[in-house]
Amino acid sequence: MTISINDTRAYHRGGRASLGWEQTISESLRDLNSSYFVALEKKETYGNILSRFFEKRDIFQDGRPCNVLEVGGGYGSIAADLLRCNQNISITMVDISPVFLDRQKERTSPFVGRVSFVLSDVFDYFESCGEFDLIIANEIIGDLPALVEIPRTALVDFLSGEKIEAETTREEVAHLKLARKFLNEVGPIVDDFPEIIHLNTGALRFIKSAIKKARALWISEHSSDYDIPEVMKGVFRDVRQDRWPKKVRLFGHDEVTIRFGHLKRFLEREEIPYECGLFMDFLGVRTDEEVRRILLTKSIANETHEIIGEFLNHVMEYQWLFINRENHNPPQRW
Ligand SMILES: C[S@@+](CC[C@H](N)C(=O)[O-])C[C@H]1O[C@@H](n2cnc3c(N)ncnc32)[C@H](O)[C@@H]1O
Repeated sequence: MTISINDTRAYHRGGRASLGWEQTISESLRDLNSSYFVALEKKETYGNILSRFFEKRDIFQDGRPCNVLEVGGGYGSIAADLLRCNQNISITMVDISPVFLDRQKERTSPFVGRVSFVLSDVFDYFESCGEFDLIIANEIIGDLPALVEIPRTALVDFLSGEKIEAETTREEVAHLKLARKFLNEVGPIVDDFPEIIHLNTGALRFIKSAIKKARALWISEHSSDYDIPEVMKGVFRDVRQDRWPKKVRLFGHDEVTIRFGHLKRFLEREEIPYECGLFMDFLGVRTDEEVRRILLTKSIANETHEIIGEFLNHVMEYQWLFINRENHNPPQRW
């Protein structure tokens, strides 16, 4: 068996961590000169769109201080936009990467006094930090530890109480127990497992920890179980049918896509209110005839077509999840 934990920490702690290899959506839309706006209805930076989202939900309100924690803030573009748009907010940036943290300091330098920085693994930080009004985790939960490469047969045998093979090591048994615990928490355990299974164990652990620290939590990530908006049905050629997490190979590390359905089931079972949506709607992507034709024909007739095709084929796989537990107290058992 090859079950293991996908762990990106060594890569992020090292000096070569960079977003140059994995352009995030927020970085693609960090300023109004971005060429990607040709794929959107409106020219507005990612941080601005997010700021409006929080304003609409009264998380950001005129005259009311808001204490924000941004986890894994990358190059700091979201934080800079939020600080610029809202005079009442202050932000703590926690990041495992010294390289990224330096970039965040540079990017938010006009807002000195309203932003502070912590170099730490987020799970260690949660052990000692205080409480926040809002936690933002944008394109980070796919980096958190995930249980990967679980053979279907081994898991099914283990779940059904079958005797496991004699050569199974203690570590593998521990991994299978972790898989069973995860599936119980996001249950009911389903039987449509692919041959090799990856589970977002770190992402679930993150949600459980984060909602004890803040009343509101924003998460966005590359997902494995996205849907296509009605108006765009049929125009994307490579829609995956298998809704299970997949490994994405990046420079120096692998990420694991998120099965939002698992996280949502956990929240529903715990009766924690949430909203969830597709990035195509969140960003307001163009859905007109020209865009649909470019996607359908995979046209690369000019640079604009290439940009639209590349960006929308990427964006379509992203989802967001927002938890606002204003009137909800999580059970003590977490
Ligand atoms: C893919 S980048 C996303 C950056 C940014 N949020 C964005 O949307 O552009 C992932 C970020 O999470 C940080 N990170 C990864 N694992 C972490 C961990 N265990 N604790 C804290 N930060 C972590 C990385 O250093 C990096 O800043």
